[in-house]
Amino acid sequence: MTFVTLLQALDEAAAGDYALGAFNVSDLVQAEAVLDAAAATASPVIVQAIAGGSAHASDERFWGALVGLIKTYDEVPVVLHLDHGPDFATCARAIAAGFTSVMIDGSLRADRRTPSSFEENVAVTAEVVEYAHAGGVSVEGELGTIGGVEGGTGEAKEIVLADPDQAAEFVRRTGVDALAVAIGTSHGAYKFDREPDGEVLRLDLTERIHALTSGTHLVMHGSSTLPAELRAEVNAYGGTLPESWGVPMAEKVRSIGMGVRKINQGMDSHLAFTAAVRRTLATDGLNVDPAGYERAGREAMRALLVDRMRDFRSAGQAKRPRS
Ligand code: 13P
Repeated sequence: MTFVTLLQALDEAAAGDYALGAFNVSDLVQAEAVLDAAAATASPVIVQAIAGGSAHASDERFWGALVGLIKTYDEVPVVLHLDHGPDFATCARAIAAGFTSVMIDGSLRADRRTPSSFEENVAVTAEVVEYAHAGGVSVEGELGTIGGVEGGTGEAKEIVLADPDQAAEFVRRTGVDALAVAIGTSHGAYKFDREPDGEVLRLDLTERIHALTSGTHLVMHGSSTLPAELRAEVNAYGGTLPESWGVPMAEKVRSIGMGVRKINQGMDSHLAFTAAVRRTLATDGLNVDPAGYERAGREAMRALLVDRMRDFRSAGQAKRPRS
């Protein structure tokens, strides 16, 4: 058994009191880093991809290759998840390609800038849930708008915090399997201009939503920690990343106790990968073969994710008898 649905994986996580990392990948080399880390730690894992967000020319070709790669890791349960599906059609494409879970991000209108109304969000999310569930695929919805830049490119979005009083109604009317709640985090390499306290990182909202939506698995987006040493390494080899604070590990671990079962993280992987690629290129001016620097990137990303899987307590859980 390799592929599992998001609902199966998160039900297991709730039973075992841990969370799964959901790690963004933008090519097959990054996907291997995630899967190798999962295999090394015996951890169930969520591999997630954004439509149009890969290094490959076609989503369908990348996604097909991703499905083939995942099948070779039969020792760990893997959820293949579409991150931030912008509309019904994109979610349907991912399901056709073999994804076992999709996120419909109904928090924004078609221009992907204007926040949609609660009713609009409910309507598109419920439509995707009906279609996905008929095919045995799980669905994550989003309440509020998570800010920043998804997948590292495009325009930064405003944060609109989730309204706890709407959460129960949203879950009831849509039937989502997991709910992403906007609590002040944002996507990308720039998040907070100071160490985040409870005023900017609103775990109190997570706690209230957890209390009001008993049993619904919650998702924290924009969860990268943005380690200062990785930013320093990128910048030492030509990068120009501004100083920024991410989500401290202790706060991610605290959120697990508040019903957060899926912790989304892409930028930390990208930082580790890019720092290693920049270092390798800078220190070997004669090498033009991508295999060497991509290998260095993969290994740095794998090592970082091994630590994350231990922190989220998913390490070792692939060996637990399944319920
Ligand atoms: P980061 O940008 O913090 O890595 O978050 C990724 C994410 O939430 C993808 O949906």
